[in-house]
Amino acid sequence: MSSEIKTIGVLTSGGDAPGMNAAIRAVIRKAIMNGVNVKGIKKGYQGLLNEEIVDMKASSVSDIIQRGGTILGTARCSEFRTEEGQKKGAEICRKHGIDGVVVIGGDGSYRGAQALSKQGINTIGIPGTIDLDIACTDYTIGFDTAINTAMQAIDKVRDTSSSHERCSIIEVMGRNAGYIALWCGVANGAEDILLPEKYDYNEQGIINNIIHNRKRGKTHHIIINAEGIGHSTSMARRIEAATGIETRATILGYMQRGGSPTCKDRFYASIMGAYAADILCQGKTNRVVGYQHGEFTDFDIDDALAMQKDIPEYQYQVSKLLSASL
Ligand code: ADP
Ligand code: F6P
Repeated sequence: MSSEIKTIGVLTSGGDAPGMNAAIRAVIRKAIMNGVNVKGIKKGYQGLLNEEIVDMKASSVSDIIQRGGTILGTARCSEFRTEEGQKKGAEICRKHGIDGVVVIGGDGSYRGAQALSKQGINTIGIPGTIDLDIACTDYTIGFDTAINTAMQAIDKVRDTSSSHERCSIIEVMGRNAGYIALWCGVANGAEDILLPEKYDYNEQGIINNIIHNRKRGKTHHIIINAEGIGHSTSMARRIEAATGIETRATILGYMQRGGSPTCKDRFYASIMGAYAADILCQGKTNRVVGYQHGEFTDFDIDDALAMQKDIPEYQYQVSKLLSASL
């Protein structure tokens, strides 16, 4: 281990995600095993600027692996987007003897980590977001729990939708990314899946599809709508007016961000947390942990943020085919 790294900090930032606690636990325990002290920085970059910093022991993270949310709290912090805020953050780290910080969050949080690294504080990012929208990694902590939560909720809506012979629009999270909608759309057998990356706003096509399905005896019609497209309630009103079929909108919302993490989220978070602690203790900086081609790996943050991610075309084509009108 690098002799220069004596103390590290860990924070969670941006939207919370199930599994963040498992990642915090792994960072803390692995760093302590590496002979390095750990401080918990509460409420993301806002907590750093407010000096909400506490000593962590291995026992501080007992009994949290199964809990949703983040024990450190999270926040969005506009001050940290400014150079003054970033300089202040680095000074506060130095004041508390923090040589490096593990940042658990989405790509916005990575930009904060990149800025902190430019101010001389070593940083390592861990992908923590339910949106799966970080290009350098096939996996982000929280996605698996979120899709399973949403899938179960959509199954329930489908039951009542069939009983009443209604059409249902179910809005899932994903302001800019359609991965939750794509996975649930396939897993729930949705008739239409609307993704921000792909939707052509051809509502008449959806209406024709609903009418066609009803004529051939289908008792329900499920539309999964990503948050990035939104307007589910007004869309439901328009579809009902055009088809004459009762149509309801359900917005799943924040329930998708909460709850006990799945085994997969706990496992990936644990390995990624340990990996991040290891490379930070080795003196690496400005890097993010990822999972690609079956391996845990790490990338330079600048490179990671420059990478593009899009919905895989084959998956999208299949998603449209399996519930299509035959
Ligand atoms: P996420 O990490 O889930 O993508 P945000 O985009 O809201 O969430 O980012 C979380 C926080 O990271 C922001 O509130 C801000 O404090 C910090 N951040 C985001 N973008 C930048 C940036 N360009 N420079 C510095 N800090 C940033
Ligand atoms: O965590 C990701 C996410 O759920 C996005 O899908 C959504 O756009 C955003 O967070 C909303 O979060 P908030 O309302 O907390 O800003």
